[in-house]
Amino acid sequence: MKHWQIERDENDLVWATLDRAGESSNVMSAEVLAEFRELLDQLDRSPPKGLIIRSGKTAGFIAGADIQEFTQLDSAEKGRVLIARGWDLFNRLAAVPYPTLSLVRGHCLGGGLELSLACRYLLAVDEPGTKFGLPEVMLGIFPGWGGMLRLPQRIGPTAALDLMLTGKTLDAKRAKRMGLADEAVPPRVMMAAARLLVQSGQPRRKLPLLQRLLNGPLKSIVANGARKQVAKKARPEHYPAPYAIIDLWAKHQGNALAAPENLDRIISSPTAKNLVRVFFLQERLKSFGKESAFKAKRVHVIGAGTMGGDIAAWCVLRGMTVSLQDQGLERIAPALKRAHTLFTRRLREPLRVREAFDRLIPDVSGAGVAHADVVIEAIFENVEAKHALFRALEPQMKPGAVLATNTSSLRLEDLRSVLKQPERLVGIHFFNPVAMMPLVEVVAAEGADPAMVQAACAFVRQIDKLPLPVKSMPGFLVNAVLAPYMLAAMRAVDAGVSAEAVDEAMLAFGMPMGPIELADTVGLDIALAAGKQLADGAEPPKCLLALVEKKQLGKKTGQGFYDWSSGKAKKVGAGGTAPADLAASLVKPLIDRTEKLVADGVVADADLADAGVIFGTGFAPFTGGPLKYRETAGQ
Ligand code: NAI
Repeated sequence: MKHWQIERDENDLVWATLDRAGESSNVMSAEVLAEFRELLDQLDRSPPKGLIIRSGKTAGFIAGADIQEFTQLDSAEKGRVLIARGWDLFNRLAAVPYPTLSLVRGHCLGGGLELSLACRYLLAVDEPGTKFGLPEVMLGIFPGWGGMLRLPQRIGPTAALDLMLTGKTLDAKRAKRMGLADEAVPPRVMMAAARLLVQSGQPRRKLPLLQRLLNGPLKSIVANGARKQVAKKARPEHYPAPYAIIDLWAKHQGNALAAPENLDRIISSPTAKNLVRVFFLQERLKSFGKESAFKAKRVHVIGAGTMGGDIAAWCVLRGMTVSLQDQGLERIAPALKRAHTLFTRRLREPLRVREAFDRLIPDVSGAGVAHADVVIEAIFENVEAKHALFRALEPQMKPGAVLATNTSSLRLEDLRSVLKQPERLVGIHFFNPVAMMPLVEVVAAEGADPAMVQAACAFVRQIDKLPLPVKSMPGFLVNAVLAPYMLAAMRAVDAGVSAEAVDEAMLAFGMPMGPIELADTVGLDIALAAGKQLADGAEPPKCLLALVEKKQLGKKTGQGFYDWSSGKAKKVGAGGTAPADLAASLVKPLIDRTEKLVADGVVADADLADAGVIFGTGFAPFTGGPLKYRETAGQ
C-alpha cells in the first residue's frame, strides 16, 4: 500500500500505521480510505487478535478529511458519494469481530476522530500537541462519517453538540475525563499501553443514565436548547451547517445519507465553499514568516496601557518571557491584574498560571530592552514621545532584535527618522481586544529591511496570530476600510435611522457586531479622531460630534449611542424603519475602499485583502470576504 504500513506482530496484533505518501501530515483522502478498505478486506480473510491504528507522522495523528476534495463538490450526488465513502467504511470498522484501538498522538480532528470513534478503544498520548475535535462546522459542513452518531454516544449529547457546533478541541486529559479517550498515557509507555488495552477485553465505559436518556427519548430537549444557543450566534440563512448537525443527530441518528435535503441545502449554499476559501486564506496568512528562522524568546513591551498591557500578557501566554515597561509601577499594575485574569481563564491549572505570571516582569527602568529579541512600543500616540523613546532604545537593543511600533495612525516614515538604522523599524499593529482578534498587520515602510519584516511575521506566528503584511499608509488595511463604513453608518443615523436599525441591518448582513455598537465599543473620541484622519476630509457625522461634545464616549463612559450597563449596550428594539437597501449602501464604501487599497498595493492581492478584512474586522466570513462578496453578489 502507498499510504498505510501494515505489520502483524508475534502476538497476532496488526499495527496499521498511516503515513500518507509525500505529505507532512495525514488526511483522510479518497485514496487513504480506499486502502483502508483493502486492509479490512485482508483482515476479514485472516482476523487478527487486535488492530491498532496509529500515525507515522511526527506532525500528529490525522488532521481530518481532505479539504481539497470538498472544493470539488458541485452536486448533491457527489456530496452523497463522499459521505457514503466514510460513513459505510467506519460502520464496517465499528462492526469487525476483533478488538480495535486508535492510538492518538498529536491532532486527531474531523475524519481522524471519526475513525477513532469507530474503534473499540481510544488511547490518547498525553502531550501538548494531542487534540481531539470535530471542526467541520467551521468549514460550513458536518461530521458525516459517523461523528454525529458516535460522539454523542461516547460523551453524551450535550458535550458532543458543544464540540460539533463550535469546532473546539479537547486535550488528552480532558478527552480522558469526558470519556472520549479510554486512557491518557505518556509517550514512553504508549506502545505497551496500546498492546495491553486492545487485548484487555475491558468493556467500554457506559454513559450515565441521564445522558442515555438525553441521547434517546429526551433528544428534543437537548436539540431545542442547542438550536437556541446556535441562533444567538449564527443565522440559518448564513450558516446552515450547525442547524443541520442538530437535526441530523436528533432526527436521523447522525446519518446524513438519510436526510438528503440537509445535504442539498449545504451543497447549494455558497457558505461551505466560502468558509473553505477562508480556511485556505488563513493557511496563507500562516505561511508568512516561514522564510525567516527568527525565533523570539524575550519580548520587551513599552507602554502598559490598553494595548501594551494586553500584548505583553498575550506573548506570555504563548510562552515568551516579557518585560513590561511604563512610567511607574502604578501604571503597570492594572495590566498585571488583567494578565492574571487572562492566564486564569486560559490555563486553569494554578501551577501553570503561576509559571506564566512569573514570566511577566514589571520593568520600570527598562532593563529588559538589552535582552529582548523583540521590542514593541505601545505608548501614547504622540510623535515627540515616540521619538524620545526610540532615541533612548536604539543603542540599548541587541543587534538582530526587531524594533516595532503598535501605532495606529502615525507614519512609520516620521517615527523612524530619529533612528540610526531607520530601516529596522516595522509596524506590528495589534487589534483591540488583543486576546480576541486573530489578525496582526505587519507594516513595512518604504525601504524597510525585508529581514526585519519577515522576522516580525515569524514573531507574529510564534504568538499564534495571523500576520498580514501591509504597506505603510494611513489606517493600513483594516482601519482604512472600516472608516468609510462607520462614516456611512453614522450618516444614516444623522438621516434619522435609529442606531438599533442600523446595527440590526448589518447583523442581518452577517457582521458580528453592528457598526454603531462597534463605535461605542471602540470609544467615540477614538472613532472621531480616526474618522478625521481616514475619511478624506469629509465632515464628521453630527451625531458623533454631539456625543463627543457631551463627553458621552460610549462603553467606557457608560453612555454613547447606547446606554451601557455591565458591559452591554441597552437596545430598545429596532426602533423605526430602515431603508430596504441600508446594508448594501453601508457595506459599499467598505468594499470600494478595499478595492482601492488593493489597487494601491497596500496589500499584495485581493485574496489577502479579503483575509485581512475578515480576520481584522469579523466581516461576514460566509461571504468569503468583501471582494469575493462583490464578485458573487454583484453589489
Ligand atoms: P494607553 O493610553 O492606554 O496606554 C499608553 C501607555 O503608555 C500609558 O500607560 C502610559 O503611561 C505609557 N507611556 C507613555 N509614554 C511612555 C514612555 N515614554 N515610557 C513608558 N511608558 C509610556 O494607549 P493605548 O490605547 O494602549 O495605545 C498605545 C498605542 O497603541 C498607540 O500608539 C495607539 O495608536 C496604538 N493602538 C491602539 C489601539 C486601541 O484600540 N487603543 C489599537 C491598536 C493600536
